[in-house]
Amino acid sequence: MTIRPSVLVTRAVFDDVLERLRAHFDVETNDRDEVYPRAELIARLAGKDGALTTGSERIDEEVLAASPRLRVVSNIAVGYNNFDMAAFDKRGVLGTNTPDVLTETTADFGFALMMSAARRMAESEHFLRRGEWTKWSLTMFAGTDVHGATLGILGMGRIGQAIARRGALGFGMPVIYHNRSRLDPSIEKALNARYVSKTELLQQADHLVLVVPYSPASHHAIGAPELGLMKPSATLTNIARGGVVDDAALARALAAGQLAAAGLDVFEGEPSVNPALLGLPNVVLTPHIASATLATRRAMAHLACDNLIAGLGCGPHAGQPPTPINPRVLSPRPD
Ligand code: DGY
Repeated sequence: MTIRPSVLVTRAVFDDVLERLRAHFDVETNDRDEVYPRAELIARLAGKDGALTTGSERIDEEVLAASPRLRVVSNIAVGYNNFDMAAFDKRGVLGTNTPDVLTETTADFGFALMMSAARRMAESEHFLRRGEWTKWSLTMFAGTDVHGATLGILGMGRIGQAIARRGALGFGMPVIYHNRSRLDPSIEKALNARYVSKTELLQQADHLVLVVPYSPASHHAIGAPELGLMKPSATLTNIARGGVVDDAALARALAAGQLAAAGLDVFEGEPSVNPALLGLPNVVLTPHIASATLATRRAMAHLACDNLIAGLGCGPHAGQPPTPINPRVLSPRPD
């Protein structure tokens, strides 16, 4: 009798995703949908061949060393800063993520968050709900324009480009960006985008959106010195990852009027949020939902499922997962 691979699904997922996994594997699920404490995660992964994870589970050397059978860890997220890829490579474990399927949805949300901060939507809505609206006045909740303003983007990958497209084509915004590498000139032209230094980006942007992946190199890419370069009328939107922004420094800058407003979907140490941010009116706070439409979350979960099935050598694309992070571990190793 053939032994079926066994996999752990670390959080609640859609029933049809589980059905697809059960066609190939013995599947252990987490129906409570609570993040496993680390020791429990390690214990449950022992003896598993694969795992379907989310950004909430840290998979590093300690976890991989305790799970020697593990061959594939499939993240339901495009970001994979929860994976220690050096440990994956060292142990020949394949990591996969879910790019592309969430690009437009995430860009929609980034743009909405930026608009909400610029036009003071959350702040004015809270004011209305508190029953404080007694009269109309000329300057009540006057914000900053989005159309025609300079859109700054830090990190010009797929999502950054999708935001630039919205700004350039929909709102007539000149776009400036900073990235590890420059875009092809034809893409820059189509996006009305100009490559600038990080300093110029901070100084010139009216609305700065962060879409840079988190890594030790991007830790606190926006801290007190960077915030000090921004225009007092500018907004900052973070849909990248907690840790890219120094949240305490941002709270101080917002309180001091160093910049007008911020929109944050991701936080250092989330789901905890720096209390200094919670107390400020000029910041829109959302709980890491930039990719959260049902259609997109389903697409992400199914892509992660495709990756796990193919990565563990099953299904029609056995051995060829669609979106591997480290495909190098798939090729036979030289002896
Ligand atoms: C992603 O896909 O990286 C989103 O942030 C959800 O974790």
